[in-house]
Amino acid sequence: MAEGISDYTKFAIDLRRHMWKAGVEIELRRLIWQIAVMGKYISAKIHESNRKLAGFKNIYGEEQLTLDRSADEILKNHLEDSGFVREYASEEREAIIQIGQGGEKYFVTADPLDGSSLVDTNLAIGTIIGIHKEPILTEGRETLVAAMYIMYGPLITMVYAAGKGAHEFVLNREGEYVLSEDNIRLKERGDIYSLGGLRSEWTPGHLKFVEYLEKESYKLRYSGGFVPDFNQVLIKRGGIFTYPALKENPRGKLRLLFELQPMAFIIEQAGGMATDGKQDILSIKVENLNQRCPVYIGSRFEVEKAKEFLAAA
Ligand code: F6P
Ligand code: MN
Repeated sequence: MAEGISDYTKFAIDLRRHMWKAGVEIELRRLIWQIAVMGKYISAKIHESNRKLAGFKNIYGEEQLTLDRSADEILKNHLEDSGFVREYASEEREAIIQIGQGGEKYFVTADPLDGSSLVDTNLAIGTIIGIHKEPILTEGRETLVAAMYIMYGPLITMVYAAGKGAHEFVLNREGEYVLSEDNIRLKERGDIYSLGGLRSEWTPGHLKFVEYLEKESYKLRYSGGFVPDFNQVLIKRGGIFTYPALKENPRGKLRLLFELQPMAFIIEQAGGMATDGKQDILSIKVENLNQRCPVYIGSRFEVEKAKEFLAAA
């Protein structure tokens, strides 16, 4: 038979079929699918900008938004019409906004364009999403029901977790997200590490932990984009990403609600762990939208090891 689109798509499992087969609740799977589609619009914006959007005027003389603001607008505008979302909170906004009629089931958080400072270098960047079933600042581990990220790299990939494992999809040339890695499971121990923060700013316990990794011949992998750096640990089935507490900045850099909670949800679904060095990321109370938090996220061995070194210091 001649090669062709039908040949290829016959065996491909697309995102909607995957979620349906996994038994993801109908409104949740529609929402995840809609957000995955928004990734295409965000990607189009990245291409259109040719890396120079901010501060420029378009052909009508209007000031262009920076790419992270544009990504935020795309998400907000489409979520408004989704029919499933009551509240939207974004790293790009000061406050939570009500976008539904009041009866919708879900509450969404977004880091619309993580790693946007890497745009000029043409390294991978991403969108991180958390989907909650309770209003966004409600206490308790159980409010997050799904998390996903879209990564804009040489390929556009999307990872989602909705309580039935973590799965990766690739956007194909026909514009469909097709399954590339089903039910990703981390090994107990990996061999890469990704370290945020200046060495001179690290605490003694963290420094000892890093020295241990170096002694054990872990390979350094750090791009400065949380999405690709985290993605590398996930797809390579283990290792650790950390952005620790710093001497001058005990709360580290990354944001608990927008960045850490969704990735912690995904890593746990893949059999890994995420802590702040003491407690699980998903057990930490979120007191305000921009709360920052140290993080150790990856396979179990390394995250437990970090806990030991920090406790001993
Ligand atoms: O969103 C914050 C962020 O850009 C992450 O994507 C990334 O992991 C981190 O900051 C990089 O920080 P630094 O430039 O300090 O290494
Ligand atoms: Mn970010």
